[in-house]
Amino acid sequence: MIALTSKDPAKLPVDALVVATAPKDGGVELVGTDWLPGELRSALVRDAGALGVTGKADEVRRVPATGLKAKVLVLVGLGTGPVTAERLRRAAGAATRELAGVGSVALALPAGDVAATVAVAEGALLGAYTYTRYRAADAARAPVASIEVVTTKAKDAAATQGVARAEVLAAAVHATRDLVNAAPNHLYPEAFTEAARAAAKGVKGVRITVLDEKALAAGGYGGLVGVGQGSPRPPRLVKVAYSPARAKAKVALVGKGITFDSGGISIKPSGSMETMKSDMAGAAAVLHTVLAAAQLGVPASVTGWLCLAENMPSGTAQRPSDVVTIRGGKTVEVLNTDAEGRLVMADGLVAATEEKPDVVIDIATLTGAQVVALGDRVGAVMGTDEVRAELVAAADRSGEQAWPMPLPDELKANLSSRVADLANVAGNRDAGMLVAGIFLKEFAGSTPWAHYDIAGPAFNERGEHDYTPKGGTGFGVRTLLAFVESRATR
Ligand code: BES
Ligand code: MN
Ligand code: ZN
Repeated sequence: MIALTSKDPAKLPVDALVVATAPKDGGVELVGTDWLPGELRSALVRDAGALGVTGKADEVRRVPATGLKAKVLVLVGLGTGPVTAERLRRAAGAATRELAGVGSVALALPAGDVAATVAVAEGALLGAYTYTRYRAADAARAPVASIEVVTTKAKDAAATQGVARAEVLAAAVHATRDLVNAAPNHLYPEAFTEAARAAAKGVKGVRITVLDEKALAAGGYGGLVGVGQGSPRPPRLVKVAYSPARAKAKVALVGKGITFDSGGISIKPSGSMETMKSDMAGAAAVLHTVLAAAQLGVPASVTGWLCLAENMPSGTAQRPSDVVTIRGGKTVEVLNTDAEGRLVMADGLVAATEEKPDVVIDIATLTGAQVVALGDRVGAVMGTDEVRAELVAAADRSGEQAWPMPLPDELKANLSSRVADLANVAGNRDAGMLVAGIFLKEFAGSTPWAHYDIAGPAFNERGEHDYTPKGGTGFGVRTLLAFVESRATR
């Protein structure tokens, strides 16, 4: 539950009241706390300095709430530099994340205008997340149940609307995290399909169509069939279509949904396999972006394609040197069964573009090379120049970090095969992320297209930070929703 309030923060009877700090002249300052009586303010700044509070980003410190109605006062660092929307989201998210187990929280951060108010609400909601499916109930880990954002804009219609959007968005990000965190013995292609049906139930205007393994074989989806054939849990292609009456644009989203990537016969070393339950993060982001767009009534038709398969080694698995035929007829020599994502995505891109969308975006935990290039907080965007720029701009607006990458034509030669139209891997490791992008480009045809490689940021193996938990991050949803919304209004 989240609400806006314009009440005096000093008088809010909450479990925790959050205020902002920032570094100043080797010490620390309070930001946006004019409402604090002068005495309290100077005492607080003195105490904070003595306690070693620095005001750096991600710092969350509890101090006594002397003179306030709240039970505890929480100082959250904004860090140095201008107070941008993303800085506010991160500070708010760091606070709610650290305050798991606390019942009611009010945030009195510097939220002077509508955008800042909405940013605080969004960050606070994104930070209030815990993955509980496999744990005994634990009150100390429960996400903050009640959030109040202190703002002078509490009665402003744009602020209320912005917060309503933030609630839908955060729920979509949380649901994406839940799918990514699910164990792969529980979340296999058919289970993912059922989860999609369950999530779409009651969302107006959304239709789900499923191609099972028989339909995939009959339809010539050789990529999904080939990758999925090593597993006793067969592949699926799930179409999630939101088509409002007065659509101003037609957007297709294609997501990689490898529910577990063992590498197949080209098996991964066990250390690299541990996090491969997250190899369906693209499909999860696509599913929940489509549903969020529907819940928000965005006037664009949005069709999601979830390319679901489990990549396993077995007597029925595809072999290195197998040749598969992708939907539409192009043949691929599978030289490395661990380069499976591009095979299922090729089928997905062909299926998506057959319906003649204005634009197609694919999103995938596609390459280890993406992690090497950009680390675990920044996604990589490739594609047609215009769409690539548009997707990066959408990421910037949404607060996700994304960076444009080139697709040099000459790299296509690296994918030449002696026996098929294309090989699925190059003979060397050079520019592995771009080579994967070049491969996908072959299947996007003439449709304006962008490819979002989120191998790094989809799953947080390191410590939690700002609004980002360990494990599934929900990365991609914010960018995709911002992209769809901008297409609906341009
Ligand atoms: N799912 C992996 C990519 C990945 C790696 C995602 C690390 C997240 C973290 C993908 O299917 C894969 O195995 N790619 C290979 C491709 C290679 C064989 C050309 C890779 O990147 O090593
Ligand atoms: Mn792989
Ligand atoms: Zn993979």
